[in-house]
Amino acid sequence: MPKTRKIKRLEELANDPPNLAIYEVILITVSSVKLKMKGVVVIMRMVALVGTVVFSFHMIDNKYSMALAATPVTFVFGDSLTEVGNNNFLQYSLAKSNYPWYGVDYPGGQPTGRFTNGRTIAEKLGISSPPPYLSLSPNDDAVLKGVNYASGGAGILNDTGLYFIQRLTFDDQIQYFQKTRDVMRSKIGVENATKLCNEALYFIGIGSNDYVNNYLQPFLADGQQYTHDEFVQLLTSTLDKQLRRLYGLDARKIVLHGLGPLGCIPSQRVKSKKGQCLKRVNEWVLEFNSKVKSLITSLNSRLPKAAFMFADTYPDVLDLISNPTAYGFKISNTSCCNVDTSIGGLCLPNSKLCRNRKDYVFWDAFHPSDAANQVLAQKLFSSMFSHMNHTPSSIAPVPQPMLNY
Ligand SMILES: *[C@@H]1O[C@H](CO)[C@@H](O)[C@H](O)[C@H]1NC(C)=O
Ligand SMILES: *[C@@H]1O[C@H](CO)[C@@H](O)[C@H](O)[C@H]1NC(C)=O
Ligand SMILES: *[C@@H]1O[C@H](CO)[C@@H](O)[C@H](O)[C@H]1NC(C)=O
Repeated sequence: MPKTRKIKRLEELANDPPNLAIYEVILITVSSVKLKMKGVVVIMRMVALVGTVVFSFHMIDNKYSMALAATPVTFVFGDSLTEVGNNNFLQYSLAKSNYPWYGVDYPGGQPTGRFTNGRTIAEKLGISSPPPYLSLSPNDDAVLKGVNYASGGAGILNDTGLYFIQRLTFDDQIQYFQKTRDVMRSKIGVENATKLCNEALYFIGIGSNDYVNNYLQPFLADGQQYTHDEFVQLLTSTLDKQLRRLYGLDARKIVLHGLGPLGCIPSQRVKSKKGQCLKRVNEWVLEFNSKVKSLITSLNSRLPKAAFMFADTYPDVLDLISNPTAYGFKISNTSCCNVDTSIGGLCLPNSKLCRNRKDYVFWDAFHPSDAANQVLAQKLFSSMFSHMNHTPSSIAPVPQPMLNY
């Protein structure tokens, strides 16, 4: 959906207070005041507002109520940026993060399968964090509350991350979601399951590995076989099919995360002469993001009741990397964990850590630190929320980011 149309609709929204979107914000705010714990209030508000921002545009048309779903059921798809432990269940996978330093800043301090020292960006965003699919038994009631299918090494293309031996590709993840839907249908009936799937939130972050662990690897075929224009065409046409497949499985509210400036991650910087960002890689990523944004716009107009949203994080991540001190960081050109990029770039047990983990934007050669995920989630959240600025502040309070995390 074009931006101008969104804004126009939001003006209509602001001029028309008794509609569902604003009603929902009031409802959630009132109910959250009753809770004493500040953290919970903030989380609830954020979940509610993510829902509102994403779906308010369609509510005017659909008139279906999000108000009932204070904590939407969430299905997470993606790669190591959103994984919460699926790969630990894949015996031969080489894309694992169950090494001592991962999770050092996660409650308990143990590795959990997250590829960072603490929480992932999706978790920082306040979206409920469902369990990894492979940790659930086939008939688990937990599936009714959401599932995380994300898997380190995964890409849009099936052959991305091939050298990790095992990972759940995006197609595999969608296949597993289909199984989840079958289980839900057998548990609560087709009608109830359809409603649940229609109202759930789908959070997708995929595509980084199609570059880092495919196109940018000189020894793999894709980088030699395709020009970048051809490759981006292959990625977006594959993604188009995948998103339509999810839609066919009743997904309506999809938030698709764009790619960050991959040319600036430590694993790419080491390929430059003086440790600078790889400009060409960043240009490719921008081209990918722009094509995916158009795809989302086109899918929203083609598919009835689709409420897909493209979350563009590129400018914010680049700003954080370019001006780390403005955000309280000291170093953004190398990682806190002193990784060896020639043997993979993950933080291995014998690696040395930096003294102050909050000083570093990057945890290992690929992944942001817990502290960076905090900043990025706040920025993503406020950019999603900025669309709501037309709403009178007296009835829709500005949300608080999760400062106490
Ligand atoms: C990728 O794998 C999925 C699931 O295994 C399969 O359905 C799909 O056809 C494959 N795509 C290609 C292009 O091979
Ligand atoms: C669907 O949900 C309703 C309301 O919760 C419930 O009464 C009904 O039994 C459910 N249908 C099935 C087939 O489980
Ligand atoms: C990172 O930047 C600092 C300051 O600009 C520089 O001294 C250092 O060599 C850089 N490190 C790497 C790995 O490029």
